[in-house]
Amino acid sequence: MTKTDEYGRRKAYFPSFYEVHDKLYGDESPHVLLNYSNPYDLSPNFDRFPHSNLSPDFFIDTIVTTLGRVPNFVVEVGSFQGHSAVTLARSLDSLTNTDHLGIYRESEIDGINGDGMFDDENSTERDGGEQADNSEEGEKSNAEQKIDENGILSSSKNKFRPEPPSDHVLSVPVLCIDPWVGDTNIWANRASDPSVQYWASRVQDGRSLLFDQYMANVQSAIVDQKLASPFHIIPLHATSTVGARFLDQMSWSPDVIFLDSAHEEGETLLELELYYSVLAPGGVLFGDDYTWHGVRKDLMKFMEIHNYGKDPNDMFTFRLERADPNNKYSVLLWVLQKAKYY
Ligand SMILES: C[S@@+](CC[C@H](N)C(=O)[O-])C[C@H]1O[C@@H](n2cnc3c(N)ncnc32)[C@H](O)[C@@H]1O
Repeated sequence: MTKTDEYGRRKAYFPSFYEVHDKLYGDESPHVLLNYSNPYDLSPNFDRFPHSNLSPDFFIDTIVTTLGRVPNFVVEVGSFQGHSAVTLARSLDSLTNTDHLGIYRESEIDGINGDGMFDDENSTERDGGEQADNSEEGEKSNAEQKIDENGILSSSKNKFRPEPPSDHVLSVPVLCIDPWVGDTNIWANRASDPSVQYWASRVQDGRSLLFDQYMANVQSAIVDQKLASPFHIIPLHATSTVGARFLDQMSWSPDVIFLDSAHEEGETLLELELYYSVLAPGGVLFGDDYTWHGVRKDLMKFMEIHNYGKDPNDMFTFRLERADPNNKYSVLLWVLQKAKYY
């Protein structure tokens, strides 16, 4: 049941990184990304997918500026191989004004440095004493790992559950909702279209390895490349509708939601309805690829249903922005902000 205030309005509740993490993976569970076992031994790869349009500048200058403050809980719907998830995490880190160097220096935690990032000198703690593979194949997390009789992953890494830094910005959760199964284009065209083949994940054991590629990429971005704090990205392996209903049941209200899923007509409208309803008052819901038929049509229907601009009880703003404001040919993103007093 959604928590509401005395006027029946949705109460915004922003969960912490480990609140979300532990709800999904179990209380006190090892940090899911730091302990990812990479069972298919995939090499991280951020170079192939050409369709990720979210830039740090767009996120900061358009989304955070519209929100008017540092976000508290970010949700991404459609993460693919992790490009935009890492962009979101890096952008959040860049919002800190605090000189947080030294936060961990006095702590007992091995393997994390003052930026909340892994410390190479202590890397034996996380990778079982072996050096990361930095060959052309890419860097892999190559810990010695075993599954015990209870089906639990055991290694030196899986005990690893570092505490987030006190600087809030470095631990704003970024919940990534995706079934990681591949979209229509991938399944229909991967065999015949070399450009799709180039960036689509391989199929093995009767399924796409897209989730594994996402995990390998994000783990590498955090652990090996130290691009972002480890206390943002949390994968939720579910469809957009399950994810939105889960947020509703938890009474968690994201204040930023990036909708970048299948862009199918009808499905997008359902996503808009579900995510708009869990969006915190004053929150920003935005999405990629406005010019896609399904996206544009469903956004128009959504505005019609909600009497855009006419219903004083249901107010939101809507606008379009170029992914790169200096390039008039760049992709159009749509940005919607719910009224603060919704
Ligand atoms: C365009 S990609 C996302 C790209 C990513 N945001 C980026 O910029 O790097 C679309 C993603 O939507 C996901 N997707 C497809 N159907 C979905 C659904 N029903 N719910 C959630 N995600 C879905 C796909 O698995 C795919 O990863």
